[in-house]
Amino acid sequence: MAKADIGIVGMSIMGSNLALNMERNGYVVAVFNRTAQRTEQFVGTRARDKNIMPAYSLEEFVELLKVPKKILLMVKAGKPVDDFIQKLVPLLEKGSIIMDGGNSHYMDTEKRCKLLEDKGIRFLGAGISGGEKGALYGPSIMVGGSREAYDEVAELLNVISARTEDGSCCAYLGEGGAGHFVKMTHNGIEYAIMQIISEAYDLLRTIAGMEISEIQQIFEQWNGGRLNSFLMEITAKLLRKIDDETGKPLVELILDKAGSKGTGKWTVQSALDLGVAVPSIAASVNARILSDYKEQRVKLVRRYGEFLRKVGVDRYIFRNVLEEAVYVAALVAYAQGLHLISVASVDFGYNTNISEVVRIWKGGCIIRSTVLNLLRKAYLSDPTLEHLFFYPEFMNEVKKGVDSLRDVIITAVNAGISLPVMGETLLYIYSLLRERLPANVIQAQRDFFGAHTFQRVDKEGIFHEEWE
Ligand code: 6PG
Repeated sequence: MAKADIGIVGMSIMGSNLALNMERNGYVVAVFNRTAQRTEQFVGTRARDKNIMPAYSLEEFVELLKVPKKILLMVKAGKPVDDFIQKLVPLLEKGSIIMDGGNSHYMDTEKRCKLLEDKGIRFLGAGISGGEKGALYGPSIMVGGSREAYDEVAELLNVISARTEDGSCCAYLGEGGAGHFVKMTHNGIEYAIMQIISEAYDLLRTIAGMEISEIQQIFEQWNGGRLNSFLMEITAKLLRKIDDETGKPLVELILDKAGSKGTGKWTVQSALDLGVAVPSIAASVNARILSDYKEQRVKLVRRYGEFLRKVGVDRYIFRNVLEEAVYVAALVAYAQGLHLISVASVDFGYNTNISEVVRIWKGGCIIRSTVLNLLRKAYLSDPTLEHLFFYPEFMNEVKKGVDSLRDVIITAVNAGISLPVMGETLLYIYSLLRERLPANVIQAQRDFFGAHTFQRVDKEGIFHEEWE
């Protein structure tokens, strides 16, 4: 007796919240978890009296599903996904749909699509963003894989996703690993913007000498303007939290070592493979790695001291200049990520509609922000836009703010503070807006030691020189 519209494997917080979201939207959901205890606990508490049917074996689980069977995997990326696919396939009839809603590497998704296609199972790789709350009330869902399968689950995925004035935050973005590629890049941008905000916090605290409560108010004000975004909003909120035990702002008591699960690193690795420069994102990954050298940093400072120096700033002017710097840095982080997606789209044949990517990032996901309206306008006006810098309205914003970014960096450098993402962002802008870079010297060096040849600016052809 098949009754469930969809089955979810994996009852971690994301899986269980998605089940509740689907149920609230009128779907009957079957649930399964590797350990029965978690399923029992879920159906006995949050899922009690709801149209959520537990199963305690995969055989029982697939029997609960309506045909064509639709299964969403919400398990840890990597081997667990392959293990479940392997166990599920023999239990499923041809035409069934398996979706992977985890943060899987897009290459793994590509492989799984092919593997399952050969077995007559349709596969979708869906990047789901928005954390716990998003999963429960409306995430952003970036889907890739079988178009035909998407059409069959589109209604369900759209109804559970976040909504903005531009529609629901779910879209089909291309074959194979397209959805997971876009989600990976989303996370790369997420890393960069998080780092930009933390750099702003550092400057306000260390250079302007502000109390956390003052920074909190500034971030709240910024969130009310053009920097309006989920990440600015939560940072303003988290700065308000006071530790019960000590009475101090909790954020100040948190060890300065940032963790990561790998999607930022994957973004940079993929960008390098595709020959796309994403220095702001790379800097944010490196910043997390450097933060992890806590013990070494402490030892070095004990031995040699810090480079910090006092610099005088007008607090009011500084915060306004910094606001503009943060704005430009965030714009450029998006520009680098979207450039990467557009190159991948061509290289991998995804044919991803970038204005759709931007549209579904407007709600539900971690990098939702007001600036996405401008980005959407850019890609709607020119769907083949190579890079956001070619969109005059976007470039005007960058040009207006670039001197503020420079001034902030000069002040930070004078104060002995590193600003990895803001710094790399400025250099990226300067490099892209420079007609002639010193790569002529690199080419000459390459030709000198390896006869790698060079081209000339004054005539066509490939040249080699005997330099000595
Ligand atoms: C999201 C988040 C989510 C997760 C990140 C955290 O879009 O909902 O990006 O996927 O919180 O993977 O990544 P790190 O642990 O690497 O910071």
